[in-house]
Amino acid sequence: MTTLEKSSLEVLREALEVLDSGFNALPDHSPLPDLGALREVLLATAERLQDNYPYQHPLYAGQMLKPPHPIARLAYMLAMWINPNNHALDGGRASSAMEKEAVAQIAAMFGWQTHLGHLCGGGTIANLEGLWVASRLHPGQKIVASAQAHYTHSRLCGVLGIPFETVATDQRARMDIAALEKLLESGEIGTVVVTLGTTATGSVDPLPAVLSLRERYGFRIHVDTAYGGYFTLVDNLDAPARAAFDQIHQADSIAIDPHKHGLQPYGCGCILFKDPAIGTLYQHDSPYTYFTSDELHLGEITLECSRAGAAAVGLWATQRLLPLEGGGVFAGELSQARDAARALHQRLANDSRFLAPFAPELDIVVWAIDGENASQASQRAHAVFDACAAQHLHLALVKLPASLLPDTAIEWDQETITCLRSCLMKPEHLAWLDPIWTILDQATASVYSTS
Ligand SMILES: Cc1ncc(COP(=O)(O)O)c(C=O)c1O
Repeated sequence: MTTLEKSSLEVLREALEVLDSGFNALPDHSPLPDLGALREVLLATAERLQDNYPYQHPLYAGQMLKPPHPIARLAYMLAMWINPNNHALDGGRASSAMEKEAVAQIAAMFGWQTHLGHLCGGGTIANLEGLWVASRLHPGQKIVASAQAHYTHSRLCGVLGIPFETVATDQRARMDIAALEKLLESGEIGTVVVTLGTTATGSVDPLPAVLSLRERYGFRIHVDTAYGGYFTLVDNLDAPARAAFDQIHQADSIAIDPHKHGLQPYGCGCILFKDPAIGTLYQHDSPYTYFTSDELHLGEITLECSRAGAAAVGLWATQRLLPLEGGGVFAGELSQARDAARALHQRLANDSRFLAPFAPELDIVVWAIDGENASQASQRAHAVFDACAAQHLHLALVKLPASLLPDTAIEWDQETITCLRSCLMKPEHLAWLDPIWTILDQATASVYSTS
């Protein structure tokens, strides 16, 4: 029995020799660690790490967790032997160039031939930079995002001292355009955050309608597509989501996370600005760095100082193996994940024990377990979650407001209902749908027989 891929480690050893040969001109220096001590600690570390959900396995179908591609793992590890820092070119010459190339490829995926952008710690920092720039350009004006936008937006506005307001959502958990327009009429709004792929339900805000409002009210658009961004490449979106992704190039800034659907280890987010002149807002003086080259040092256009060059190396290698193009292998695997989500939703919708309020727009499925009232349905969801986990099927839970389940006979004895949620992020999920369904079916049957 094996669940972890190990065969690719052979390639790492070979690549290390190639890397080492680049430093042949130096006098010999061969550090030898104490292998016995190292082995003892590393084996103990491996044992500690067993205390995890099996994120790498198709039966892990819960939160937004996707194993990095072997090429990303290997390239990241390879870079660890020199540990470049992508702040100044002094700290990471090759990895800074690789970052600029990889980020330009992501910008091109969204239709931008020119841009300003860089990698960062993750979606939170990418959004922080997007909102920080927005606040510099529209000082004192409000930022709004939908009630289903990631909680980070209201929190970041608190950090930045910017007024924030929530826009109501429609029954599909997308931003409600009438509610947005009402807020815009106040004249106080400088920036609208449009989420293409919400965290809870994978809903896609109607960007085309927001763009029409921009013509009338004139505001900045920051697209948070930390989760959903790569779905722009797939060929099986429904029309509203397709229309939104087709207009993404009209945004002013975009946050996307290579460490979600881009097959990267954690620590890899990306912020992109349409207008390269935004760079002047980052201008600062550093008495320590920026000496070895007049070329752009990435530290001159980032809020973070030290950043992992290895993250750029992993991303560059992944995009070289799996280019970001429609019809390619990478896009095909994302389409499969989406097909898995659609197939699961279909089965749920055909089974009266479940309430599957809306079809997935990406690869996230949410469903409630039927019950007399919201509290009984919520208890059942927790019980099914536990019963599935006991059979090694790992799902997630999410609390949804009554407004997202308007057409049910459930009595609303509380304001929210706890639903099951599954991020079917792996292409293998499609082939594993039968075993996933069998476990869910049996778990639900056992919960029904006792509650
Ligand atoms: C839409 C969206 N934005 C932002 C974030 C925050 O990203 P991170 O966890 O990488 O900081 C997430 C994380 O789930 C997300 O789904």
